[in-house]
Amino acid sequence: MPNTFEAFHVKSSGGGYDVVIGDVVDLVSQAGLSDMVVLADVRFKGRLPVGEDRAILIQSDETEKSLERMAPLIERMKAMGVNRKTHVVAVGGGIIQDIATFVASIYMRGLRWTYVPTTLLAMVDSCIGGKSSINVGKLKNLVGGFHPPEKVIVDTRFVDTLDNQQIIDGLCEAAKICYARGVFSDFHAAVANKTTTADLARDIVLRSLSSKRWFVEEDEFDQGVRLLLNFGHTFGHAIEAASDFRVSHGVAVGIGILVAHVRAERAGRYSRGRNPTFDALASYVETLLYNLPGLTDVLTSLRPMDVVSKFEGDKKHWADRFRVVIPVDGDHLELTEFPRSETERSEISEAFAGAFARVGASMSRV
Ligand SMILES: NC(=O)c1ccc[n+]([C@@H]2O[C@H](COP(=O)([O-])OP(=O)(O)OC[C@H]3O[C@@H](n4cnc5c(N)ncnc54)[C@H](O)[C@@H]3O)[C@@H](O)[C@H]2O)c1
Ligand SMILES: [Zn+2]
Repeated sequence: MPNTFEAFHVKSSGGGYDVVIGDVVDLVSQAGLSDMVVLADVRFKGRLPVGEDRAILIQSDETEKSLERMAPLIERMKAMGVNRKTHVVAVGGGIIQDIATFVASIYMRGLRWTYVPTTLLAMVDSCIGGKSSINVGKLKNLVGGFHPPEKVIVDTRFVDTLDNQQIIDGLCEAAKICYARGVFSDFHAAVANKTTTADLARDIVLRSLSSKRWFVEEDEFDQGVRLLLNFGHTFGHAIEAASDFRVSHGVAVGIGILVAHVRAERAGRYSRGRNPTFDALASYVETLLYNLPGLTDVLTSLRPMDVVSKFEGDKKHWADRFRVVIPVDGDHLELTEFPRSETERSEISEAFAGAFARVGASMSRV
């Protein structure tokens, strides 16, 4: 399939951008960028479309996407002669994307850029939407902005080198997006029928991105319906942070979906058996996560008070109320508020414990 590609357009305030699925080498050379600098995951060293003098290689770990690390990166770009005409090409997963979006938005008041996602999670979710999220110390995704790329190039062959957990990361996010858009049943049938990874990736990317595109175009700046895509995230971020990021983002979101489910049931907002599509989503996520090597050990080692305290620190809450997306009767999602109270803290802790049990882990009671 190297020379065939599919493309679609995403409308945004900056005029919009194209997402193209095809061969990255062909597509970058066709773009004819005369002055470019590549920000890439260090794992792609020696495989980039530019010489080493035009590439900045970055280790993809959470400490690299922190505000503290942005100044040295910007100084390095300046030393390389990057100017307002330079086009940034970012090659990597969500960490490289967050760094590139942020730096491209502020360097000399903004550079044009192209994104090449290399993880399934980035291909199915983060590559569109234009958001950057940067950590401040240990505070995850505290600062950021919106600066969409000029083009997104999805080359699904990058999926070939991902491990099982990285594939599950992408599947959890894609399943969540498709459920939020009301097309989970089609997604579910498609993943069950595809056997090869490349085939599967192409199909999932198209389903997931066309669903996400609807949210991004309806609510580019995250003020209304796009907030539903935070489903699984407020709970998931708490698991990522409490585990010192030993639980990866997509897996944490998968568990977060189950936490939301338990909390909704305990609040009397959700009845099992009356929401067939959500029941199918929850059981799909459980199947992906159950027996994922190492996961139960990490989850079992977490202290409930740490998980709840990370949950409390999420930026989406109000001063007196927690705000979370939960599944509700009628088989849809709702942004709901719970009072910040001792009773609610213990409910949240119970919901984490219930979700951990569903993926084969137990949570200590202290
Ligand atoms: N800005 C957004 O809209 C948005 C949305 C979702 C997630 N995120 C952020 O993205 C990050 C998670 O991103 P992620 O899971 O895509 O990956 P990542 O960038 O964290 O990378 C995970 C690992 O995969 C490796 N990797 C990358 N491509 C590979 C390939 N083709 N083969 C083998 N290994 C490869 C990386 O080197 C790294 O070790 C989190 O920081 C999350 O907060 C941002
Ligand atoms: Zn996510």
